[in-house]
Amino acid sequence: MKGIILAGGAGSRLYPLTLVASKQLQPVYDKPMVYYPLTTLLENGVREFCLISTPQDLPRFRQLLGDGASLGVTIEYREQSKPGGIAQAFLIAEPFIGGDPVALILGDNLFYGGDSFLKAFTDYRSGATIFGYPVEDPQRYGVVEFDEQGNALSIEEKPALPRSQFAVPGLYLYDEQVVGITRALRPSPRGELEITDVNREYLRRGTLRVHKLSRGFAWLDAGTSSSLHDASAYVQTIEKRQGIKIGCPEEAAFRRGFLDLEGLRRVVSNLPVCEYRAYLDKVVREAGASRLG
Ligand code: G1P
Repeated sequence: MKGIILAGGAGSRLYPLTLVASKQLQPVYDKPMVYYPLTTLLENGVREFCLISTPQDLPRFRQLLGDGASLGVTIEYREQSKPGGIAQAFLIAEPFIGGDPVALILGDNLFYGGDSFLKAFTDYRSGATIFGYPVEDPQRYGVVEFDEQGNALSIEEKPALPRSQFAVPGLYLYDEQVVGITRALRPSPRGELEITDVNREYLRRGTLRVHKLSRGFAWLDAGTSSSLHDASAYVQTIEKRQGIKIGCPEEAAFRRGFLDLEGLRRVVSNLPVCEYRAYLDKVVREAGASRLG
């Protein structure tokens, strides 16, 4: 499965922070926001990435993540010159997708806990797989309605009167048909190619699966000052309590086997002395010890 990280948009809700760096480069506690969705895809076995952002911001992402070699993966970069909706990502990334299944993750979505995604990724064969997560304010999101057997009945984008509490988070798995489906879409009243319309088409074809995410799972979006702060507080709380890091791509690449212990050591040796390095040093030490033991 290939992976697209969509990190575009004007980030106007975070103004003035976003005057000089895009939303997905803002810190969520101790690392840039984009580390979290990148890590989510790495944890689920994605090794080939395409990051999409605005022409102004792409150089910064390149500077931050490079070509992926230090993580044992590949990362290519493509421009979204005008905001045309989430689904536009499939048209921009068409040469990258090249007929393979693809996971799309939004650069401001943070996920943590459990292995719900792993099962969805492992079970994925064809069609579309999306997720449903109960929230207090579903009208802000894509909303999926289920029948009694748990099959999706309808999906609506930001409905004034939601038919369920289940919001659709920003992680979607598709087969190669997604490009053709997107090409046939018309822009919505807000002038965008809506990801919800892609999902509706898969639903109409009978090839949409929706996994419900369990209660213990955390999904946060970080698109406003207040939700950005909440996300930072959440990450800090878990990291301090458990002595682990959430959203650490180097660790995820290592645990997934994309980097061996030597590779991880090399990466760590190039980091400045800081808390982040101290954490990865610990990962290296523990892995070394368990190999000896
Ligand atoms: C977008 C999608 C929506 C989805 C949400 C997840 O909303 O359109 O269906 O639930 O991302 O973050 P937007 O970011 O445009 O408000």
